[in-house]
Amino acid sequence: MQDKDWIEVHETAFVTSMYRASNEGLSKDTYAKLWSNPKTYKWIEGFLEHVSEEEPYAHCLRNRYFYEFVKANNNIEVVINFGCGFSMYPFLLDDHLIHIEIDLPNIIEHKKAKVNDWTASGDLPKRNIHYISSDFSSRYEGELLRKIHSITNHKRSLIILEGVLFFLNMEQTKRLFRFFNAIQTKGDYIGSVSFQDSIRTTEVFERLVNFFQDKTEENREFICQTLPDSFYETISDYNLIEHQDYYSLSKAYAPNKITKKPKDVLNEHVYILRKIE
Ligand SMILES: C[S@@+](CC[C@H](N)C(=O)[O-])C[C@H]1O[C@@H](n2cnc3c(N)ncnc32)[C@H](O)[C@@H]1O
Repeated sequence: MQDKDWIEVHETAFVTSMYRASNEGLSKDTYAKLWSNPKTYKWIEGFLEHVSEEEPYAHCLRNRYFYEFVKANNNIEVVINFGCGFSMYPFLLDDHLIHIEIDLPNIIEHKKAKVNDWTASGDLPKRNIHYISSDFSSRYEGELLRKIHSITNHKRSLIILEGVLFFLNMEQTKRLFRFFNAIQTKGDYIGSVSFQDSIRTTEVFERLVNFFQDKTEENREFICQTLPDSFYETISDYNLIEHQDYYSLSKAYAPNKITKKPKDVLNEHVYILRKIE
């Protein structure tokens, strides 16, 4: 990251990695700390002070959920992570899995180079990973479809979409879910994370939006999208088979945790869809 005082969308991936590193026992991400750097640490200090101290914990829960989901569903052969950032699922999960990591070009170039270095030095185990650069606000469909099909060959897939929808608008979101339908077959899964519309009236969400707007390069707006449950309940050819949130995940993975400031919880929801047609 360059030394400047605004944050760009792709740089948020460093932040979520450092959150996951804050509690490895909970997140199960023992490699997230590889992405730590002083500049991100400064962003996080500001975020904890001005928005919420609960965020690192919430991100650990999210990672833990997908980690456990893949382990529990051993029919999954390919994990396709849209807006993968510096997620480390490939190295935390069984080595028979195929991974497709998709994100903006700066993230993909940086991640690929670093992972190759760390694999060569033995800091990371070898995994079957395909990296693809793509911008979900562009016309990506044709080329991305060809690339993904050549890798998956209709194997059972899980698409992960976490920490991304906040930055997309509704038209881009609908296109993305239509694209998921085009690349998946019956029985495949989508795991998607988003905020519910009702969070918009909370003070903590207002602080989150203000934080991003303040820290955004001039003339560049963060979208801060939220979605109703009905969005997931009405996606063509998919059934909503699971719905979790901060509280249900916390109960499952850290039953003794006491949330010190409940009003500071940015309650993200996790939805699992399964393709029926
Ligand atoms: C908050 S990070 C989350 C990263 C990762 N999924 C995680 O949970 O740690 C948001 C990610 O979305 C990616 N992203 C945002 N807008 C995007 C777009 N238009 N096209 C592709 N990726 C995008 C960013 O580059 C970044 O890696």
